[in-house]
Amino acid sequence: MAKKLFIRTYGCQMNVYDSARMADVLAPLGFEPADAPEGADMVIVNTCHIRENASEKTFHELGRLRQMKQRKAAEGGQMVLAVAGCVAQAEGAEIMARAPFVDMVFGPQAYHRLPEMVARATRSAAGPGERGVLDTDFPVESKFDHLPEEQKVEGASAFLTVQEGCDKFCTFCVVPYTRGAEFCRPADQILAEASRLVRSGAAEITLLGQNVNAYQADGPDGKTWGLGRLIRALAEIDGLARLRYTTSHPRDMDDDLIAAHGEVPALMPYLHLPVQSGSDRILEAMNRKHKAADYLRLVERLRAARPDLALSSDFIVGFPGESDADFEATLSLVRAVGYAQAFSFKYSARPGTPASLLELQLDDTVKSDRLHALQALLSEQQTAFNSSMTGRTLPVLVEKTGKFPGQLIGKSPYLQSVVIQGNPRLIGTIVPVVIEAGHANSLAGTVQIAPEMEGAA
Ligand code: SAH
Ligand code: SF4
Ligand code: F3S
Repeated sequence: MAKKLFIRTYGCQMNVYDSARMADVLAPLGFEPADAPEGADMVIVNTCHIRENASEKTFHELGRLRQMKQRKAAEGGQMVLAVAGCVAQAEGAEIMARAPFVDMVFGPQAYHRLPEMVARATRSAAGPGERGVLDTDFPVESKFDHLPEEQKVEGASAFLTVQEGCDKFCTFCVVPYTRGAEFCRPADQILAEASRLVRSGAAEITLLGQNVNAYQADGPDGKTWGLGRLIRALAEIDGLARLRYTTSHPRDMDDDLIAAHGEVPALMPYLHLPVQSGSDRILEAMNRKHKAADYLRLVERLRAARPDLALSSDFIVGFPGESDADFEATLSLVRAVGYAQAFSFKYSARPGTPASLLELQLDDTVKSDRLHALQALLSEQQTAFNSSMTGRTLPVLVEKTGKFPGQLIGKSPYLQSVVIQGNPRLIGTIVPVVIEAGHANSLAGTVQIAPEMEGAA
């Protein structure tokens, strides 16, 4: 009988990719995806450590799962409970101590060893023997060489990890400790995975990496490929209509990648380019390795290559020692760039990071006030950007059904959600949509159907 597997995913897109790959690793063992944790034979919580509230969710969730595990045991069954991801990597031993009912704890670089871990955990959960399984090594072998080729693709848009880990050590960030050192997958491995994804129905692929634009690896021609070269090769895959990549560091944007934005039609005109702050003093304290002016120059060069490029960023407000003037500099940078969309966060002191040891940690009220002011400006820019689409006809990749009957949701080239009416058969296709309204978080429009297509749709 098939066993039920439930995976709860927190954090970034790479965790979404990892969760899908964990399911691929477990499929040959007879595990099938379940919609809810209750009653499942195995539950994996794939965690995020980036900010304090992200990690706290893990322990809350584990409390709820403990009860489900007990209910399953009372019925004579067994639920294997696993914690994966960045909290597992950072606090593995603490989880084992605080939540001894957890059977397995493993980090982002160890999940190719799941079959072996499951065997050990089921043995120990069934009776006396070894206690929970902990695997937070950074193994010498790359998990990518051991993951199965069979991949389940959900929907028209897929993620593909091309680079992982980070050597930048921004002083606020846990990622270099949870994901490990920078590692790039060889280009032929990526091209093969992309082809398989497209054959399984993906029309769009988002290349993932903590520092994706630092990508440097061997190409099939024996030369070293950067991300620009890789994108040009991926764009040749028949049926792959759209390419995106995330997340980039401003320091690693090379000439070839900038040029690719103007030269590769499949590369969508949207770029997430985190700047964190507009103050040189704070950028320096964050160890971001560039100044505000460098970022603005880079934006100019990108827009020269692709004039309609929509930009997105991450911001941290209330970094230790951030003054009113520093915060003002962030607002000025935002005004100078004009973002289509952005994420902003209150600084969260993370254990083990250099910034957490700095004096002058700011009050939460100061952080809240600054966050509100920044978000007001960003949302004004986002609404203006969305409104500017009114009257245009945009190609929309239809992804899923909406909340209401007949509603479909898709994505514009600029990564805006677009709400349309149409037949669910359109899911997975790219259709021309006349945009009628631009709202704060989405666009609304009507599918333009050629007369000969009307009967079909
Ligand atoms: N380069 C990474 C960034 C990961 S973290 C990537 O591939 O996505 C995503 C964002 O979280 C960062 O850009 C930063 O804005 C925010 N962040 C990271 N550490 C933080 C902290 N300690 N407090 C608040 N925000 C943080
Ligand atoms: Fe974290 Fe900085 Fe690396 Fe991004 S570049 S993952 S923010 S250390
Ligand atoms: Fe979170 Fe780890 Fe991603 S800390 S943001 S899940 S790399």
